[in-house]
Amino acid sequence: MKIIQVTDAHLGRRGEIRFGADLHERLDRCIDHINARHGDAALCIFTGDLTEAGEAQSYADLRSALARLSVPYRLLPGNHDRRANLITAFPEHPVDENGFVQSAFDTPEASLLFLDSLAEGRVTGELCDRRLVWLDARLGAAAGRQAYIFLHHPPVELGLALLDPLGLEQPARFVELLRRHGNVGHIFFGHVHRDIAGTVGGIPFSAQRGLHARFVLDLVGEEVVEQAPPTYAIALIDAAARRVVVHNCDFLERWPAYSPATGQRVE
Ligand SMILES: [Fe+2]
Repeated sequence: MKIIQVTDAHLGRRGEIRFGADLHERLDRCIDHINARHGDAALCIFTGDLTEAGEAQSYADLRSALARLSVPYRLLPGNHDRRANLITAFPEHPVDENGFVQSAFDTPEASLLFLDSLAEGRVTGELCDRRLVWLDARLGAAAGRQAYIFLHHPPVELGLALLDPLGLEQPARFVELLRRHGNVGHIFFGHVHRDIAGTVGGIPFSAQRGLHARFVLDLVGEEVVEQAPPTYAIALIDAAARRVVVHNCDFLERWPAYSPATGQRVE
């Protein structure tokens, strides 16, 4: 199963240049690239910060951009989003019984679970009791299959002084729940605008820097962003083999290319 992760699109006002980049243009090019190369993906998951300020117009813009995406998609809110405006713009998008933007994508071998970690008014993320009850039930329903978790906020300290206080609140509660079920194969998140991989509670995780400017790698705490090339991720998942491979695709980058056979430059 091929899954695409796109994170932190941060759509704001049309024509706005933020940190030197037009985020609408980036999203359009990202969609072009996915359509051209990965139209066979089962699903494309947008892991939050869909918009910069949660404005209704930004979700309308997102909806019209996504109309061109040839792969089915799911959306998760991030701290920059507003749940009500998201749901209004995407009324057919699944939500859970409490109105959180949580849903599942089930196959005979796997269950992909999409979590809503938005805490309106806070930068940090929250998985309240109701959201965890939903997750607990879905993980239970996935017993005997592999489960893969998608959320915006990192449920793990990353060693980044500025970003670590802005992650998921009470991460141990969440990680313990995953561990108790014992069938979670990978956690995918965004929020940190960096490419990071590791494990938490023995469960592998990965984050993508996404479409927005990247935070400078600074383990002490200087707040700077740099205009690194945007990226999306391609996850190749074989649940039966318990194998997950995550590739980053820097879709706007063009590097000089050479033929390995001749050593000559090729276009
Ligand atoms: Fe973000």
